[in-house]
Amino acid sequence: MSMLNSKDLLGLKDVTKEEIELILDTAKTMKMILTSKAKNAPHLRGKSIITLFYENSTRTRLSFELASKYLGATAANISASGSSVAKGETLIDTGKTIDMMGTDVIIMRHNMSGAPHLLAKHVEASVINAGDGMNEHPTQALLDMFTMREKFGKLEGLKVSIIGDIYHSRVARSNIWGLTKLGAEVTVAGPATIMPPEIGKMGAKVFTTVQEALIDADVVMGLRIQLERQKKGLFPSEREYSRFFGIDDKRLMLANKNRLVMHPGPVNRGLEFTSSVIDSDDSVINEQVTNGVAIRMAILYLLTREEQ
Ligand code: CP
Repeated sequence: MSMLNSKDLLGLKDVTKEEIELILDTAKTMKMILTSKAKNAPHLRGKSIITLFYENSTRTRLSFELASKYLGATAANISASGSSVAKGETLIDTGKTIDMMGTDVIIMRHNMSGAPHLLAKHVEASVINAGDGMNEHPTQALLDMFTMREKFGKLEGLKVSIIGDIYHSRVARSNIWGLTKLGAEVTVAGPATIMPPEIGKMGAKVFTTVQEALIDADVVMGLRIQLERQKKGLFPSEREYSRFFGIDDKRLMLANKNRLVMHPGPVNRGLEFTSSVIDSDDSVINEQVTNGVAIRMAILYLLTREEQ
């Protein structure tokens, strides 16, 4: 049994408040290793970690690979385009093949919601969801929560406003599950055509104007407009989006003075945020990237360590 309640980390919907706190606390220690001169701790020595990505990634994939290496594991990557997946091998057969090579952890990104959950049922290795369709991206939300907690000291009572393409966003869903469990107040805003009806039931307040959502926000989180996933007719033009929902210096002033500007990346500059907002002193977008490595070090450690 790992130090988390399950062998896998598939989403924050099914993770307890205590588990989230354990991950965030562990990441604090991991950040010390990450920011030290010698990034060669022994916590994962002897472990084998594979990233299996069916979709593109820069941050998630690289940070998992570096997290594994900084903690002494053997790490390797496989992507759908360069593997036997391209020859028609099924997800389960690919997963079992990786499993049989002595793999301890498989980190998977897939365009279908639920794909990591399916894989987890068929392999001995721990499976970490690195983003599945429109469902969840738990490690992104954990690094977001870590960044907020680092700046504000706590999550309880924080007002977090998530603006953008909520419908397609696995980042929004994981953040809503995680943040509400830790007592933050989450508001979302975006065009009504890409606002899923279930979002209110998940515990977020829903607005259809960006101004309402920004008032008194402690955290302003922009989401990437996922142009590749937009269905015809759902989305206004890019120009219209940025006119009604894009955040510039003036709109940002509606938020609290002591605010954080966050974005999971990659950013469409000039669409979700103007460049001056992205590069402002309020922005912690670059710190999110560093914290992403610390969070992934913590998750790998907690999932592979046997409970004493
Ligand atoms: N935030 C995020 O998941 O970025 P990548 O797609 O670059 O991994």
